[in-house]
Amino acid sequence: MHKATKATLTIGDTTIELPVLTGTEGERTIDISALRKQTGMTTFDPGYVNTAACQSAITFLDGEKGILRHRGYPIEQLVKECEFVEVAYLLVHGALPDKRQREDFSSKLNRHSMLHEDMRFFFRNYPERAHPMAILSSMAISLSTFCPEVEEMDVDAQVDEAMTTLLSQLRTIAAFSYRKFEGKPFVYPDHKLRYCENLLKMMFDSPVEPYELDPVLVRAMNALLIIHADHEQNCSTSAVRLVGSSGANLFASIAAGICALWGPKHGGANQAVIEMLEGIRRDGLKVSDVVTRAKAKDNPFRLMGFGHRVYKTYDPRARIAKKLCDQVLERLGIKDPLLDIALELEQAALADDYFVERKLYPNVDFYTGIVFRAMGIPTDMFTVMFAIGRLPGWIAHWIEWMNDPYQRIGRPRQLYVGPVTQDVVPLAKR
Ligand code: SDX
Repeated sequence: MHKATKATLTIGDTTIELPVLTGTEGERTIDISALRKQTGMTTFDPGYVNTAACQSAITFLDGEKGILRHRGYPIEQLVKECEFVEVAYLLVHGALPDKRQREDFSSKLNRHSMLHEDMRFFFRNYPERAHPMAILSSMAISLSTFCPEVEEMDVDAQVDEAMTTLLSQLRTIAAFSYRKFEGKPFVYPDHKLRYCENLLKMMFDSPVEPYELDPVLVRAMNALLIIHADHEQNCSTSAVRLVGSSGANLFASIAAGICALWGPKHGGANQAVIEMLEGIRRDGLKVSDVVTRAKAKDNPFRLMGFGHRVYKTYDPRARIAKKLCDQVLERLGIKDPLLDIALELEQAALADDYFVERKLYPNVDFYTGIVFRAMGIPTDMFTVMFAIGRLPGWIAHWIEWMNDPYQRIGRPRQLYVGPVTQDVVPLAKR
């Protein structure tokens, strides 16, 4: 981070100078951390639309150009060249692993992948059809009760133990929550399999119908997890950082991230997209009418999987997911009518002035559900898949934040607009 220039701010008779910080990609931000001390004023920015809450060296986004890079590597190259485990390593450790490092990391993840046997019984008590995101978030925090030593460890040791446990066991929990949802027996991880192979096998294997791993689907699962792996200061990552800033451990911070991800404006949008497309097909709606409804000010409905806080052009991950739709559907010989509706919807929205003026394009969630669905993953599990992909990103941000010299407890200010002082009237007189 570079501090070269200053911004001048004049409020009435007072003029102050504020440092302007420049990042490695030339982005500039005004450091207002001393503003209140100097002027008595705060800044007002609901939804943090304009606030850089931290410095970060993990992910770079250019929302105008549609660029996404992790540690400098373009997302397209990472999808083409890497397994998910390599991208997880890159995010957390800062560099791509060599062959030996990748194998060490993979076997470490495999060694950690068994759940404590007592945790299996937790699944029994969730009601049938419990939403897998509810199970995932409560299991993430439950995991910490089986690793009480993390509280005692220093950040580095805590990170290594907790990170490995989370990466390998949340995947097992995700698969088990799916089996619970389906009312099927749990399938244990197999040490001979790689990360995504194990995930597919744990979800789909059956004692009566063994699951054959298909390299195209394994590749697609790797790509899907990679495109979800990190996205700088999104809502769930900010939740992880905020909870971590109080000194809460990594498990607690990740559980908060999972809860934040669940909402339909964030990761829950992948489920909402398929529900929207299914609704269009079921009710025989015209795509043009759906677009009209999404524009109406007096209607809360919005086109799910469209729009983004940062991207004002096509989300590069949506482009990758769209290609994956073709590859996976072709491989499985599936013709999904929802894909045709999605393509028609995209075309109609991108030609509409409302969407053009507001620069609303498909985001990561628009096409991923069609791929998950083709692979046999039920709609309720889509956001869980997003969470498994996002896990290394959350962990990397938590580690970075814990080691950041600027780190302080997260505590925004407010502009109070409630009643001024009033006296309490005793209950008898109210
Ligand atoms: C993710 O932040 C990240 O990086 C997130 C993510 C990640 O990897 O972590 O990329 C993952 O969360 C993707 C987003 C998934 N959500 C959806 O697909 C839900 C539908 N989209 C939106 O609700 C919305 O676009 C958001 C939540 C994604 C962004 O919200 P913003 O930045 O607060 O934008 P906004 O709601 O203020 O929208 C600006 C304008 C408004 O119109 P005006 O009031 O100016 O007239 O655009 C309109 C909005 O009404 N608008 C839409 C729309 N999205 C925005 N209109 C119709 N359909 C939409 N989808």
